[in-house]
Amino acid sequence: MVLMRERPIQRLLVGFDEKPFDVFLIQVDGLVAVGLKTPIRVDPEQTDLRKCCLVEPSMLLGLVVDIRVSETGYAICYRSLEEGEAEALFTTTAESSTADLSYPFTRLRSQGYAETVQPLHFWNPSPALVADLNRDEAFLRVEAVRILREQGFSAGVVYDPACSTGTFLSEIKEAFPESRVVGQDLNAGMIALARQQINEVYHADAASPVVPPQSADIVVCRHLNLDVVTTQDAERLFLIAARTVKPSGLMLVFGHTPVLLSSAWFEGLGFEVVRRVSTICGRLALFQFYVLRQTGTIHLPDLPIALVNKVNHSRNYGRHSEIKDF
Ligand SMILES: C[S@@+](CC[C@H](N)C(=O)[O-])C[C@H]1O[C@@H](n2cnc3c(N)ncnc32)[C@H](O)[C@@H]1O
Repeated sequence: MVLMRERPIQRLLVGFDEKPFDVFLIQVDGLVAVGLKTPIRVDPEQTDLRKCCLVEPSMLLGLVVDIRVSETGYAICYRSLEEGEAEALFTTTAESSTADLSYPFTRLRSQGYAETVQPLHFWNPSPALVADLNRDEAFLRVEAVRILREQGFSAGVVYDPACSTGTFLSEIKEAFPESRVVGQDLNAGMIALARQQINEVYHADAASPVVPPQSADIVVCRHLNLDVVTTQDAERLFLIAARTVKPSGLMLVFGHTPVLLSSAWFEGLGFEVVRRVSTICGRLALFQFYVLRQTGTIHLPDLPIALVNKVNHSRNYGRHSEIKDF
């Protein structure tokens, strides 16, 4: 085996229009590794390859040596890994409660470097979209139930500010029948669907929570992701949702597309970051799954009212364009 420092340096170049959001970093035991997400079998039973929130050892390139951003895009220098090292790094990451998986580069327009998000009508629940959402989030729902059990949760108020089809909350209700599940969503079509699965659901923007401050035991955030909102709106919506969590309550932050917020930022707000990364049982595949405990000492920056209402504006200020490819 060639020593890491003696291995040749490779360079990954990614332009702003070349899906920089597929670049992921794994931080574990003081190492920072870089990889590039590619389509895989979300469910081994299926034949089609799709990109989702899963990354596998085959996508790992090497250990980061340097990262640059210029007007042409991103340049990441790394030393490549040898046979078996990617699997070993993934295994260590899967077993670590402090290891992190992040996507440092969001989708930016090369003209003006603005972030783009899906237009509201993208979420009109066509059968295809509903099938994709339910299929791509199946293992996320299983993981959420497993982690809530692991954290000693048995019953309480579970709030989802962007509940889409309602499938997520209905599976939580099934696993924790004594719980009260409350959802809201900006898309009327999604609300009509969700009403078929859960009782308490409202047509409302996550910027205006339908539950009182500090009233939820569990808050689910699967809307702070790439293409759903901009990073600035993800921060605002997170701070708005965080005000609804009871002291010692939990926030779960994950999604089908990359989470736009960092565990360092959560920690800086005073949350206990109980977990950052999860795996699928029996498969060496990792995905972002932040579990945050509201320690009672969190300090949330005030959100001027104007800003609260601004969340929707960015959707109106021409930031939305039909995003064809994830
Ligand atoms: C849960 S998110 C993301 C789903 C999937 N996890 C992903 O990562 O692609 C999609 C849902 O968020 C809803 N949504 C987006 N922005 C919202 C907002 N500001 N308030 C409430 N719901 C919102 C959409 O209407 C849609 O039903």
